[in-house]
Amino acid sequence: MDFKELLEQRYTTKYYDSSRKVDEDTVTRILECTRLTPTSANSQPYHFYVLTGASKDNLRPAIKDFNMQRYDGASHAVVITCKSELDEDHLKAVLEAEIRDGRLPDAELVAAQDKSRHFFSNLHVEKGDYNAWTCKQAYIAFGTMVYAAAAYGVDSTALEGIDYEKCDEIMQLADRKEQTAVIVLLGYRSAKDSNTVDKRPKSRLSLEQLVTRLN
Ligand SMILES: Cc1cc2nc3c(=O)[nH]c(=O)nc-3n(C[C@H](O)[C@H](O)[C@H](O)COP(=O)(O)O)c2cc1C
Repeated sequence: MDFKELLEQRYTTKYYDSSRKVDEDTVTRILECTRLTPTSANSQPYHFYVLTGASKDNLRPAIKDFNMQRYDGASHAVVITCKSELDEDHLKAVLEAEIRDGRLPDAELVAAQDKSRHFFSNLHVEKGDYNAWTCKQAYIAFGTMVYAAAAYGVDSTALEGIDYEKCDEIMQLADRKEQTAVIVLLGYRSAKDSNTVDKRPKSRLSLEQLVTRLN
């Protein structure tokens, strides 16, 4: 399918068919696509917790009432977290992955890349917006995830209607130097979902409103 058509058809699912589960191979494919998300300095300062069954039920206290019915109906909930503080172990893991993947063939490049990533990370630590910066990277991954899901015929819902502190607490994120960025629900729409694009057309500002071309 053409990418624009995919974007036109993907929508925020409000009612899921709770009897339909997304199979684990499809979930893995969606996660593999998400893994390819570009981030500033390739920092990838995020993590994905894929919840289903009892672990998903356990997170219910962090979900706002108005989202509960879709949360319960969805097959999976993915908690996307971002780093809450600079984590040397994480930066080391990123560098090791780049070496392993053949991106840094010599020691000079390894040192330069490590220095550059520390520079960008520390810039935000010093500015006091490190959380905001890592959270932005997590939202890029969120975008990849929902469009990957749509490409595989899986419906999704972004959830900001959550109690962030409670989510951090239940997921025990402080121990991992992480905090909740956003939750993505995955599943299959219910026939009674009235938010589908045929029943509720997608609405966006026009290109004229959104774009200014400067020559
Ligand atoms: C970051 C983000 C958070 C959102 N949080 C919620 C939410 O908590 N509950 C909900 O029902 N919809 C939520 N939405 C859905 C938006 O309202 C929806 O994306 C928007 O109205 C556009 O509709 P569409 O996704 O169907 O094109 C969220 C969307 C985004 C991108």
